[in-house]
Parts: sequence; C-alpha cells; structure tokens
Amino acid sequence: MTRVAVLKGGRSLERQVSLRSGARVEDALERLGHEVVSIDVGPDLVDRLEDTRPDVAFVALHGRDGEDGTVQELLELVGVPYTGSRPGACIRCMDKVLAKHAMRDAGIPTPDFYAFNQTAFEELGAARALPAIEARLRFPIVVKPAGQGSALGVQFARTAEDVPAALVSAFSYDTKVMLERHVAGRELAVSVLDGPAGPEALPVVEAIPRDEDFYDFEARYEIGRTSFVCPADLPGGLGERAQELALSVHRILGCRSFSRVDLMLEERTDALYVLEANAIPGLTETSLLPQAAEAAGIGFDALVARVLELAVERRTPV
Ligand SMILES: Nc1ncnc2c1ncn2[C@@H]1O[C@H](COP(=O)(O)OP(=O)(O)O)[C@@H](O)[C@H]1O
Ligand SMILES: [Mg+2]
Repeated sequence: MTRVAVLKGGRSLERQVSLRSGARVEDALERLGHEVVSIDVGPDLVDRLEDTRPDVAFVALHGRDGEDGTVQELLELVGVPYTGSRPGACIRCMDKVLAKHAMRDAGIPTPDFYAFNQTAFEELGAARALPAIEARLRFPIVVKPAGQGSALGVQFARTAEDVPAALVSAFSYDTKVMLERHVAGRELAVSVLDGPAGPEALPVVEAIPRDEDFYDFEARYEIGRTSFVCPADLPGGLGERAQELALSVHRILGCRSFSRVDLMLEERTDALYVLEANAIPGLTETSLLPQAAEAAGIGFDALVARVLELAVERRTPV
C-alpha cells in the first residue's frame, strides 16, 4: 500500500472539473488499496505535503497553477514524486503560443496564427496590423487566450467587427492572446499514455456537439450535450495519422506519463491540424482520456494504477 496525496481543486477556473477528476481518482485509489490523502490545493500546500509525507502525489488539477508547472515545481522542491509531466512540459502545454511555435518549428501541422501580448496593443499599435492578419487568416477567425482550457475565452469572430470584442474577452483571461485560422471540420482528441514500451497513442475520440455549433465549457461537462465516438470512424489511414501526430506532439513538448492532443480534421481537405496539447487531461466521467483508455481495454482503475506506477518509477532525485 502506498500513501497517495491527491491534489485537486485549487484556484483555477477549472476548479470544479478538477474536483470531479480528483474525486474519481480517489475512489479508484481506494479500490486499489492505497491510502488517500486528499488535498484541496491552496496556500497550505507545502505544509500539507510536509506534514503528511505522501509516497507520491497524484496531480488531478487543471488550468492555472496545477497544469502550468507551478505545483510541479513545488513538488520537485519538496521531493514528492508526482504524476504527469514535469514543469517544462507543463509550461509548454499550458501556453498555446509556445506550444504552437514548438509544433510549427517541428513540422507538425497547426492552424496559422498570430499571437500578441497586451503591450503590443497598448504600446506598439498592434491594432494597426489587424486588417493584414484578417486578410491572411480569413474569416471566421478564432481568438483565444494563450492560457486557459475547457474552451474558456475561446471566441469565433465572424467579421472584422467582431474582432475587438473577441480580443477584449480573450485578454480578460490572459495577457497574451492569439488569432488563429478557423478549421471547419471534425473535432478529434488523441490521448497518449506511457507504457513499458514507451508512449502509446490510445484510440481516437471524436466529439460531436449536439445542437450547438460550438463545443463550449457548458456543453463539455454536461452529460448528454456532446456525444463521443471512440474509436472515431475515420477514412483510410487518418486515425493512424492522428495517432502519429499526437505521439510526436507528446515527445516534442516533453510530456510524461500522459497527455491529450486536440486536433481538427478539416472537412474540405481531409487535413489534420493540431490545436493544442493538455498536460493533465480531464479524468471525469465524461472526459476523453478515460473513454479512450476504456476503448483500449484499460479500465479507469487500471489507468490510475498505470499513471501512479509511472510516477513512482521515475522518482525525481532530490
Ligand atoms: N482553429 C480552430 N478552428 C476550429 N475550431 C477551433 C479552433 N480552435 C479552437 N476551436 C474549438 O474550440 C475548442 C477549444 O479550443 P482549444 O484550442 O482546444 O482550447 P481549450 O480546449 O484549451 O479551451 C476546440 O475543441 C474546438 O472546438
Ligand atoms: Mg482543447
């Protein structure tokens, strides 16, 4: 039996999702016979870790602090082995602009984009460049904050008139935003799970929104508002290609244990484009990584056991 600290909650906008991921992980750990120390991450995190001295921490946090390398840095410092990626990969995944530059430099297809921080608008007159960007990306244009997840702050601008408000909205989430080419098509996600033979890509999941034209924060976590197909029904070779891309992205960004790569399959061209990678994929009842693992014959408890084992094996030197 191992004493496992489950880190959940926290202050991020995805707190509620994290509480659900965490609760589900705790149930699985108990079924697996581990001792669970539940920690709602806050100012007493370091004290709690030092008082309870867990053998390993299961990081079930999403969004700011928990998924961006901050909590991972503290865990390294306190010397507690933990699940998932190390700080560097977390930082690269959490910042979509960094991730997209890394992907583009490595030849991974990702939709064209232009990124700016707030000072570019305030001090460098970036607004003057908007018409040129709009001409290159064509409408609709997707405007999103560099950070965040769960579609928070993601806006579709249909005309030039929509762009300023979309920017203001994206800037309310982060000091860096991007304008990205819209890819019309099917929405896919490929989860990657490390194993004895190295990272393996799980079956592709397709998310099909019902009623909505956009898969938003609400739709994502309400059972029944999005239907999922796994393995996705894809024409010749595209599933394998999506899996190859996800594996490459997992490696390029330096992810460890698990990750989930979100892609679009463009309807018109059958081309795949990587949108982003998530360092700590959701682990709720409706989340995509558990569904993909299930389709690969790995039940939730086995998934949790595997991720935990990887953390213990790769105990970081203190
Ligand atoms: N360039 C794009 N073209 C079409 N749809 C997009 C594009 N970017 C984002 N979306 C839609 O918005 C959702 C959220 O975007 P994503 O970049 O994955 O950010 P996050 O999941 O971190 O909020 C995607 O799953 C997709 O439905
Ligand atoms: Mg996403």
